[in-house]
Amino acid sequence: MSYPHPGTAHCQALFAKGVKMKVMAINGSPRKNGNTATLLDRALEGAASKGAATERVDLYDLDFKGCASCFACKRIGGKSYGKCARRDGLKPVLDKISAADTLIFGSPIYFGGISGEMHSFLERLVFPYLAYDEKHTMSFPKKIRTGWIYTMNVPAKWLRLAGYKQLFKQYQSLMARAFGASETLVVTDTWQFDDYSKYVSSMFDPEKKARRRREVFPRDCEKAFAMGARVATPPAGRS
Ligand SMILES: Cc1cc2nc3c(=O)[nH]c(=O)nc-3n(C[C@H](O)[C@H](O)[C@H](O)COP(=O)(O)O)c2cc1C
Repeated sequence: MSYPHPGTAHCQALFAKGVKMKVMAINGSPRKNGNTATLLDRALEGAASKGAATERVDLYDLDFKGCASCFACKRIGGKSYGKCARRDGLKPVLDKISAADTLIFGSPIYFGGISGEMHSFLERLVFPYLAYDEKHTMSFPKKIRTGWIYTMNVPAKWLRLAGYKQLFKQYQSLMARAFGASETLVVTDTWQFDDYSKYVSSMFDPEKKARRRREVFPRDCEKAFAMGARVATPPAGRS
């Protein structure tokens, strides 16, 4: 899935000047070495292979809450217009993001949606940029590329039935509107426990899970690397 967006001029201008792109990955999983974090790291390696400066933010390390619905970001003439007014552990990250050239979001699927921390983060990131005008103007200062990486237990054949495809489309189109061209990588049937025999998990076949981890996950990692390399460069034919 990809939503082309005309806003690649920023990315092209940096490239033309030889300035390093700043690529940030946002980890919405509590596990720092889990599936999501591993794939985000591969994506950042892909971005670094194109000369980008990279950083991973682990949301679960930060002390923050979701939108407080204070509307300071919408107040006419207010000093926080278009910005989140909350001062907590997320503030420095939001400040950094306003200077980033590419964002890669990663989340495990929890109860059919993104993780709670990722949801709270998105409320704080996107809502301030969204103007309550007739055109729903988005005020992020430039057009940048974004990517989504999702990991989940279900096999690929369940994605449509479980409504996940619609979910991915919704977040991709939100990012395309808020920031610029966006793409999505979906990683299914992930490895959840180091040792399945130690957990109540009879709904899974540990042999099949281990095989998938061995044979398919490395290919998913390659796709993440390729995504990172792609989103850290201007699209072909546009320079
Ligand atoms: C609280 C919780 C809820 C989950 N809900 C779902 C779900 O609705 N659908 C699904 O496919 N997997 C679900 N999973 C499994 C995770 O999405 C999956 O193991 C994921 O790859 C974990 O990512 P991580 O290794 O980065 O932590 C859930 C896991 C947890 C802990």
